[in-house]
Amino acid sequence: MTTDFDKLIDGLPKAELHLHIEGTLEPEMMLALARRNNVTLPYATAEDINAAYQFDGLQDFLDLYYAGMSVLIEERDFHDLTHAYLDKMAVQGLTHVEIFFDPQGHTDRGIAFETVLGGITSALEEGERELGITSKLIMCFLRHLPEEEAFGALTSACQHKEHIHGVGLDSGEAGNPPANFARVYAAARQEGFIPVAHAGEEGPAAYVTDALDILQVARVDHGNHALDDPALVARLVRAQTPLTMCPLSNLRLKGIPTLDQHPIKRALDAGLLATVNSDDPSYFGGYINDNYKAVSQAVGLSAREIITLAKNSFAASFLDDYEKQARIDAVDRYVEPFTRDAD
Ligand code: HPA
Ligand code: ZN
Repeated sequence: MTTDFDKLIDGLPKAELHLHIEGTLEPEMMLALARRNNVTLPYATAEDINAAYQFDGLQDFLDLYYAGMSVLIEERDFHDLTHAYLDKMAVQGLTHVEIFFDPQGHTDRGIAFETVLGGITSALEEGERELGITSKLIMCFLRHLPEEEAFGALTSACQHKEHIHGVGLDSGEAGNPPANFARVYAAARQEGFIPVAHAGEEGPAAYVTDALDILQVARVDHGNHALDDPALVARLVRAQTPLTMCPLSNLRLKGIPTLDQHPIKRALDAGLLATVNSDDPSYFGGYINDNYKAVSQAVGLSAREIITLAKNSFAASFLDDYEKQARIDAVDRYVEPFTRDAD
């Protein structure tokens, strides 16, 4: 069923701030790259792959996510992956994206850091030129691996500061607290990288507090469990620290039993700078607009709240203040015909 809100969402100018590029690998591309690179997969068809995407939790997903990466070998594979994502986004109102990549998921398989980065950045440059989508790149450390190995990724990133804006922390959260990465984050900040981290996805509110205090993050990825701690919510509201929430991801990884229990509305009501994002759209059954539509319907967001989410996506981005305002003004211009008759 298409609602008026769906029409509003379709072309609504927006930014995506929580997107793992490796999580955009569609089954068809996985099979095509496996053929191109002579990689053997445990699946014969896209249906087989989709059937395997039933997850009991984050770790269950991560096992398939890392296995899927095995088809990404050559620079052009990373280019094609990124290009395909941007092509899809050009018709979803997306005008800016801040993309995560997981270099350790590739360098540990013998793929050079520069192969990964070169393919992604050439596609991002093309995307800005041809589609008008601006971007920033955030390199994630894999938190299930030792901090020493994260230092290896940081050393590589330091050779390519012109292409990498920030550092993040992803992979299995439970038992891998932010404190384990205190030293590498201090070094990354010293080198000028903007810090963000996944926190409060499966882990407790205390991990969000530690991400703020120890890692000194500028933004919290997911942050769902921050809502369990009223003092933490007050702190996040006071500082307007953004949360990059991912409704369909939370549903598919069983962080919430049903989508109507997603905390996005509670977050907005509390005054948090919350945003909607897709995380790993190929694995979780929806790109950014699917997330906006599904969660709006499930928790009953108003048109005004949907517009706030789009504005928040720019306010929470790492664009400069002038660009943020220009993008927010573009939201106002776009929604004018939708809101003319409203209160
Ligand atoms: N959480 C943690 N690690 C990840 C995710 C996620 O949602 N996606 C890709 N790596
Ligand atoms: Zn994520």
